[in-house]
Order: sequence, then structure tokens, then C-alpha cells
Amino acid sequence: MDRLVIIDAESRRLAEVLSAAEPASRCPTCPDWSASDLLWHLTNVHYFWAGVLSRRIRDEADLAAVEAAKPDRPDEQTALLGLREEATAALLRQLAEREDAEPCWSWWPPDQTVGFTRRMQTYEATMHRVDAELTAGLPISPIAGDVAAGAVDHAVDVMWGWMPDGATHHSGALVEFIATDADRQTFFIEPATNEKGETKEYAVEGTTPEALAAGASRTMDCIDCHNGAAHRISPTPEQAVNRAMAAGRISPSLPFVRRDAVQLLKADYPDEAAALAAIDTGLRASHQTAADQAALAQAISATQQLYRTNVFPTMKVTWGVYLDNLGHATSNGCFRCHDGSHVARDGSSISADCATCHDGP
Ligand code: HEC
Ligand code: HEC
Ligand code: HEC
Repeated sequence: MDRLVIIDAESRRLAEVLSAAEPASRCPTCPDWSASDLLWHLTNVHYFWAGVLSRRIRDEADLAAVEAAKPDRPDEQTALLGLREEATAALLRQLAEREDAEPCWSWWPPDQTVGFTRRMQTYEATMHRVDAELTAGLPISPIAGDVAAGAVDHAVDVMWGWMPDGATHHSGALVEFIATDADRQTFFIEPATNEKGETKEYAVEGTTPEALAAGASRTMDCIDCHNGAAHRISPTPEQAVNRAMAAGRISPSLPFVRRDAVQLLKADYPDEAAALAAIDTGLRASHQTAADQAALAQAISATQQLYRTNVFPTMKVTWGVYLDNLGHATSNGCFRCHDGSHVARDGSSISADCATCHDGP
């Protein structure tokens, strides 16, 4: 990726979107900011880093000079838009002149180089452009794959790996619950405060005090969704084969391969060796005329792998013995709570609206 091109394009887009928005409209992702505050923020950030780079700052103590040289925030929107252009141009000039390896101050102790600022500013401009589109009520325009992947690394390594003073983590919602059955499929949600500061207690109709007294209280954690240890299990061979086909591990070019693989996976075998052998002979027999021998070999090994990771004859574990709580296609999963029938006293329920979890159409 060309980071200078991205910083330039994203900053322009932010300014263009915000210049058309009502200056007082609120930024949903930074609720304390208006459209005009957001425009000033990026302007200010670009002036600041342009100043850090041009003054070759190495020590935090020298930042006062950078701060003092920045212009004041103008009242007029047009003046603000002009400053934004100037600030971005100054930053880009500095970044174009300097090498990543050159030493330079940053607020992140492990990386005191120009490269840090170049990376940080790529993602910061992209992120604030998204803020701007949300503020203007516009759809979010796409982010290039390499920028998105780099931003995830940056978020994990830098933004969450090392928290600046005064920053805090907010967990979206702390869920405390009592399961009223042994398989943790039915819940009473204990009072817990969500991110809106509301404290709610959700229960399904007919939850009795006796059932609650018998259940154990628990804070929701990874295992309540990720109930398959290590790898993801598939409760049905159909779903396992669908996923393998979607991932390109079983080629749809082999006629009826889905039907054959599902049938072979469903059959009973005395042990794993017998199953793997039967899958091999079975798929070869029904695809004797397969033109694409490489696709056949890959389909055989992928189907054997599905068997090996889902069926364990000696443990008496087979398809459907364990539920998959990560979705809701083969068991209730998320719908154990997001079913619209866990209702709080004020009548609200844990959302079962598809859009809560599925963004796209
Ligand atoms: C509310 C349910 C829920 C909770 C709680 C939860 N996850 Fe997940 N997690 C998911 C879903 C859904 C996916 C996407 C699954 C998929 O596409 O295969 C996922 C995906 C992941 C992945 C990526 C897996 C992959 O194969 O790409 C990791 C890693 C992960 N979660 C770790 C965790 C950890 C660690 C915790 C606890 C701190 C946690 N999760 C808590 C629902 C949850
Ligand atoms: C043990 C009960 C329980 C299970 C199981 C559960 N959730 Fe939730 N979930 C909750 C509660 C409670 C809330 C918070 C509702 C509120 O704000 O009062 C919540 C909130 C959410 C939100 C935020 C909704 C919003 O409007 O901000 C998302 C997204 C979500 N859950 C996804 C999932 C997914 C995906 C799964 C399945 C992999 C899942 N949940 C399984 C109880 C559960
Ligand atoms: C509480 C969160 C949540 C809600 C609400 C929700 N879904 Fe899902 N849905 C998920 C998760 C998580 C998955 C599994 C993703 C995965 O397997 O990687 C999923 C998977 C799916 C799948 C694919 C099933 C498969 O075979 O793997 C479909 C289709 C689907 N959802 C449709 C819907 C529809 C329609 C609604 C509304 C009625 C809905 N979902 C509501 C979280 C949710």
C-alpha cells in the first residue's frame, strides 16, 4: 500500500463528507464530537505530527514548541476546511521526505521512529473518514484489504497492547446468568449494567424461584459460545461438507460430491481407520471417471479430515452429540438468549433482530 496516497485520499474524503454535513450533527462513534469537532480533530492531529516530524522531536519535553506553533481553531467552516488542507499537506510533505527507520518521538515507547507515525496516520485517517461518513449518515465506503488487515494488527499490537494514560477498556456488555438446565441451554439473565448504563434482568416466562435456586450463577465467557474446545465442531455432516465446499477444500466440479461425502460421513464405522478407508474407496468408486484427479484426491483428504475432527468412535462422540453454540443454524446457539422471549421488567427483550448480528443484507 502507498500510505501517503491513503492518508491523502482518506483525509480529503473526510473533509468532503463533513463539508456537506450539518456542522452541529453528532458523530455516533465519538458522541462528544460534532461534525465540526471531527474536522478540527484531524486538522489538529495533522498539524501536530507535521510539527513533530519537521522539528525532529526526540523527547516529549520538546512537544511544547510543537503545540505552540499550531494555529487556533477558526469559527468559520470554510477557514477550517482550508486549514485541514494545509495541515494534511504539511504532514504528507514531512512523511515524503523522511525514511521509516529515522528516529522520531512517538507516544508509543516501543517504536520511536518515523515509521510509527506513517502507520498510525494511515489508520487514523481511515478511521476518522469512517467516523465522518457515519456522522453524515452515509454508507461506509470500502477499506482496502491490506489497510484493514494492517489496522487490525495495529489495534491489537499498539492501541490495545499499550494503553495511553487515561484510556480505559469498556466491555460492551457484561452478562451474568443462571443456567436453569445442565446443558446451559436455558438462561435467566441476572442484573448487569450494559454499555448504555442500563441495568436489566431478563427472564423467560415461567422461570421459577426453585429453578433459579438450583442453577449456578456464572459470568458469560468465551466457552459459553466457543463450546467446542480447540477446533470448531460441526453438528451435522451436511454443514461440515457445506463449509468445506465454501472454503474450496471440496471442489464442486466433482458431480454429486456433496451427496457422496455426506453419505460416507454419516455411516457407522467400527473405528477411525475403517472410516478413513471407506471414505477413500467410496469417493473413488463414485468418481471413477473424474477428469480432475487432483480435485478428487483433495476431496478425499478433506472429507477424511472432517471425519477425524468430528467423529471419535472410541469416545462415543459423533455428529450432533455436542451442540455448536457459535451460530443458530443447527441448534439454538445465540438464540438461547437472543430469542425475543428473554424479557425484562420494562418489556424490552434481548434482541433477536437479524440486523443485531448480521450487518449485510
Ligand atoms: C457471544 C458469543 C461469543 C463469545 C462470548 C466469544 N466469542 Fe469468539 N467468536 C464468536 C463468533 C460467532 C465467532 C465467529 C465464528 C466463525 O465464523 O467461525 C467468533 C470467532 C472467534 C475467533 C476466530 C476463530 C477463527 O477460526 O477464525 C477467535 C480466536 C475467538 N472468537 C476467540 C474468543 C475468545 C478468546 C473469547 C473470550 C474472551 C471469545 N471468542 C468469546 C462468538 C463469541
Ligand atoms: C447467555 C445469554 C446470551 C447468549 C448465549 C448470547 N448473548 Fe448476545 N447478549 C446477551 C445480553 C444479555 C446482551 C445485552 C443486551 C442489553 O444491552 O441489555 C447481549 C448483547 C449482544 C450484542 C449487542 C447488541 C446491541 O444491541 O448492542 C451482540 C452483537 C450479541 N449479543 C451477539 C451475540 C452472538 C453473535 C451470540 C451467539 C454466538 C450471542 N450474542 C449469544 C446475552 C447473550
Ligand atoms: C445474536 C446474533 C444473531 C442474530 C440475532 C441472528 N444471527 Fe444469524 N448467525 C449468527 C452467527 C454468529 C452465525 C454463525 C456464523 C458462522 O458460523 O460463522 C449465524 C449464521 C446464520 C446463517 C448461516 C447458517 C449456516 O448454515 O451456517 C444464516 C442463514 C443466518 N444466520 C440467518 C439469520 C436470520 C435470518 C436472522 C434473523 C431471523 C438471524 N440470522 C439472526 C448470529 C445471529
